[in-house]
Amino acid sequence: MTNEIRFFELNTGAKIPSVGLGTWQSNPGLVGEAVAAAIKIGYRHIDCAQIYGNEKEIGVVLKKLLDEGVVKREDLWITSKLWNTDHAPEDVPLALDRTLKDLQLDYVDLYLVIYAYSVVICKLTIPPFQIHWPAPMKKGSVGFKPENLVPPDIPSTWRAMEALYDSGKARAIGVSNFSSKKLGDLLEVARVPPAVNQVECHPSWQQDKLRAFCKSKGVHLSGYSPLGSPGTTWLKSDVLKHPVLNMIAEKLGKTPAQVALRWGLQMGHSVLPKSTHEARIRENFDVFGWSIPEDLFAKFSEIEQARLVRGTTFIHETYGVYRSLEQFWDGEI
Ligand code: A2P
Repeated sequence: MTNEIRFFELNTGAKIPSVGLGTWQSNPGLVGEAVAAAIKIGYRHIDCAQIYGNEKEIGVVLKKLLDEGVVKREDLWITSKLWNTDHAPEDVPLALDRTLKDLQLDYVDLYLVIYAYSVVICKLTIPPFQIHWPAPMKKGSVGFKPENLVPPDIPSTWRAMEALYDSGKARAIGVSNFSSKKLGDLLEVARVPPAVNQVECHPSWQQDKLRAFCKSKGVHLSGYSPLGSPGTTWLKSDVLKHPVLNMIAEKLGKTPAQVALRWGLQMGHSVLPKSTHEARIRENFDVFGWSIPEDLFAKFSEIEQARLVRGTTFIHETYGVYRSLEQFWDGEI
C-alpha cells in the first residue's frame, strides 16, 4: 500500500483529514503554540473540547492564522465535543455557542457527544478534570444522593445535536466512547446518523469488534490516544515500547510513534496524536508517502490487547447507572 491516506470520507460526504492534533491535556500556555506549529507543519485537523479548558487559547491562534492567511477556514477541520453537564436538549445549543465563541468560529466541522462521562456518578472529583457533581444529577440538586441521579437520555440529546446539524453550526455530528451496542441503539432512533465514533484506539487496543460494526454502518472510527498516551502517569502505558512496534520501526527506519500512527491510517481510521512539542508534532505528521508492508502489518495481530482508558472512576457499584465496567462498555472490555 503506497497511497497517502490524507483523508477519510464521512457519511456526510465531507473529508476528514486523517491526522489531527489532539489537545486533551495540552495545558493552556502551551496549546496555542502547539496548534500554530501544527498548522504551519501541515496539519489541517484540530481535535478540541470545551472540557479540555483550552478552547479560548486555541481560538486566539486560529483567528490569527486565519487573519494572516496562513490557512483558510474551509481547509481546516475543527472538532469539538459536548460535555456531560450539557446533555439536556435546551443546553446543547448553548454549549456549542460557547465553544464557537471561544474558538472564534462560525461553525465546527464535527461536534461529538461524549458518552463516558455523561453517565458518571461523580465521586467528588474526577481526575484530571476536577468536575464536581456533573450532569447525571438533577438540575439544581445538591448532594450525592441516589434520588438526584439522572440516567442518560441519549435520544433527546441527539435530537438537539441534529438541530445543530440542520442549522449548519455543526457540519457533522457524532459520538465518542460509544460501544457497538450504544451506537446501534442510537442508529435505531437517529434521523441524522452519527458520522464519527471517536474512541480509544492504538495497536494495543485495536477495537476489532467496534471497528467492524462502525464499518458495517458507515460510521467513521476516529482514534484518540493513538500512541497510548505515553506521558500520562495514571494510564501506565507501554504501547510505544511494544517489541513488535519497535521491530517494525527499526526495519522501516521510522519511530515507534510513526509506526503506531501509520498502522491506524492503514486500518482505515483517523488518528489524533497529542503533543505540545514541535519536534514531535512534526514527527507525528511524517506518516505519509511510506507504508507498512503487508508482512509486517500482519504482526500487529500478535499484540496483546488491553483497554487503557477504562473508565473505572465512572462506575459506582451501588448507585451507578452503570455498576461494572462490563456493563458500561457492553462487554467490549
Ligand atoms: P508531549 O505532549 O510532551 O510531546 P496520545 O496522543 O496517545 O494521547 O499521546 C500523547 C502523549 O504522547 C503525550 O504525553 C505526548 O507528550 C507524547 N508524545 C507525542 N508524540 C510523541 C512521539 N512522537 N513520541 C513519543 N511520545 C510522544
